[in-house]
Amino acid sequence: MSSSGLPRGSKYKNRVSSGSFMTASTYPLCQEWKQKVENCLHLSELEEIRVHLLGKSGLITAELKTLGQLSHEERKTKGSEINAVRDYLSSLLTHKKSELEQKALEFRLTTEALDITLPIRPEKKGKLHLLTQVIQDIQNYFRDLGFQIVEGHEIDDDYHNFDALNIPAHHPARQNHDTFYIKDHPLRLLRTHTSTAQIRTLETQKPPLRIISIGRVYRSDALDATHTPMFHQLEGLVLEKNTHMGHLKGCLTDFCRHFFNVDDIKARFRPSFFPFTEPSGELDINCSREDGQLKIGIGNNWMEILGCGMVHPNVLKNCDINPDEYQGFAFGVGIERLTMLKYRLPDIRALYESDERWLNHYGVGSVAL
Ligand code: DAH
Repeated sequence: MSSSGLPRGSKYKNRVSSGSFMTASTYPLCQEWKQKVENCLHLSELEEIRVHLLGKSGLITAELKTLGQLSHEERKTKGSEINAVRDYLSSLLTHKKSELEQKALEFRLTTEALDITLPIRPEKKGKLHLLTQVIQDIQNYFRDLGFQIVEGHEIDDDYHNFDALNIPAHHPARQNHDTFYIKDHPLRLLRTHTSTAQIRTLETQKPPLRIISIGRVYRSDALDATHTPMFHQLEGLVLEKNTHMGHLKGCLTDFCRHFFNVDDIKARFRPSFFPFTEPSGELDINCSREDGQLKIGIGNNWMEILGCGMVHPNVLKNCDINPDEYQGFAFGVGIERLTMLKYRLPDIRALYESDERWLNHYGVGSVAL
């Protein structure tokens, strides 16, 4: 084999002698490159050698191109020599490649080992917010009594928030609600109470039914220790054929006993007014305020807890329900108010400030974040 086909000025100039039969490994070119491959320390360097020898413009390709000028006999001999050299070099390269890869892996395994003596990073765990705990407790309590938990719409309309609940346009009760209307949509609003859930449910389900709904409501109110423009309400509705005031009183008194964890809590129903109930009432429970400390379920003072009443026949008619066939009671209560009373929180804003110390103190359980 001659060197005529080798690229000029190449970094690796070589010569393969032609002549009698020699095994590939004894060709000077093979011996020279064997040495270079063995001395090679990096995969990138090895790749350069491979391209130089076996690549499209490499030495072997150049040698193969010279075959065309030879006689048939010469071509046969030289052709098989070139092939033998190519196979030899390529197996040298493959072998070296896997050796270098293995070395690289061993290097990584020793240098990238984990230092298990390092202290672990502190893990942050979330807890259930006090309001979530209260909401879940109320839901579990009513679910056990056969109540269905329904959702209303936070953005609702005039009809569901007012008209259907027997609060017509001119009604003074509307003024108390300080409603947030949606810009450019005069009939759309942020619901001011969860009583809307009564209407939303009765549009798709017919009595008998028992539901509660808990969710956010909005009022353009002051922001102080007892008011926030957004808060949560619980709404309840029971509609069955023989429901009466006795059921209302029993249901709500039992709920207060459960919620405040006091077996002999005293309940007082005071007449009141809500457009969607008739008669309407407010439920007070007994408490003591001795030494400025509020205690629920003991003492002779009264604390207002919630609004309630027998569902107004107009509300039932608005939902295509015959008030002579079905009657029931409804109630509504602020979740924040219940929470503040139960946990003796002086300021509603603490519930929303997201102070980590407060959250850790009142939160329960651990929730992976
Ligand atoms: N929706 C009333 C409010 O936001 C609360 C309420 C009172 C709901 C009496 C009722 C009820 O269902 O019967 O103040």
